[in-house]
Amino acid sequence: MPSLDIALRPARLDDLDAILSLERGEGYETLVGRSTRREHEDMFAGGRHAYFVGESERLEAFSILRDIDHPHGNLYLQRIAVAQPGRGVGARFLSLLIDWAFTNTKAHRFYLDCFDDNFRAQAMYGKLGFRRDGLLRQAYLAPDGRRRDLVLMSLLRPEWRV
Ligand SMILES: CC(C)(COP(=O)(O)OP(=O)(O)OC[C@H]1O[C@@H](n2cnc3c(N)ncnc32)[C@H](O)[C@@H]1OP(=O)(O)O)[C@@H](O)C(=O)NCCC(=O)NCCS
Repeated sequence: MPSLDIALRPARLDDLDAILSLERGEGYETLVGRSTRREHEDMFAGGRHAYFVGESERLEAFSILRDIDHPHGNLYLQRIAVAQPGRGVGARFLSLLIDWAFTNTKAHRFYLDCFDDNFRAQAMYGKLGFRRDGLLRQAYLAPDGRRRDLVLMSLLRPEWRV
């Protein structure tokens, strides 16, 4: 299948339907966080978060960044998901987002946490230069009461485009 040409743009409020459905993709419930429409609207309006989408003919990916103006330059990749995994969209979209982040903010450290068994996501981050900082043991309380480990990963500005 040919790879899609993805364009990055800031999300608009009228993208929320598509974003809600992207983060509720089949099988995603144990891979990525999800929020209610109201929570998204609050984050959208709150000034601490920045939403982005990736589109070709339709919306293919979205992401939420947090702490764009962090005093220590720690920019957090709060969420990312694509419509159809395994087609190169995530890596293309995230590489555009990394370029946007290091070009348009003063971030020094672009970081994320990820469930330790989400190997596809970790492979994508590793491919784009993120390194593993460590493991947040039992940091996440799942809805069923289980605790899950989170892998912490980051990409530093000096490592960008190296
Ligand atoms: C994680 C996610 C954004 C990655 O995007 P994607 O479009 O599926 O990934 P890509 O096709 O760009 O693949 C990037 C790399 O990941 C790896 N990869 C792809 N599919 C994989 C799989 N099934 N298992 C392990 N690694 C895989 C490959 O190394 C690939 O690079 P390569 O094709 O050059 O070998 C996407 O799968 C997704 O939305 N998953 C559900 C939500 C989620 O997990 N979000 C991240 C939370 S931390």
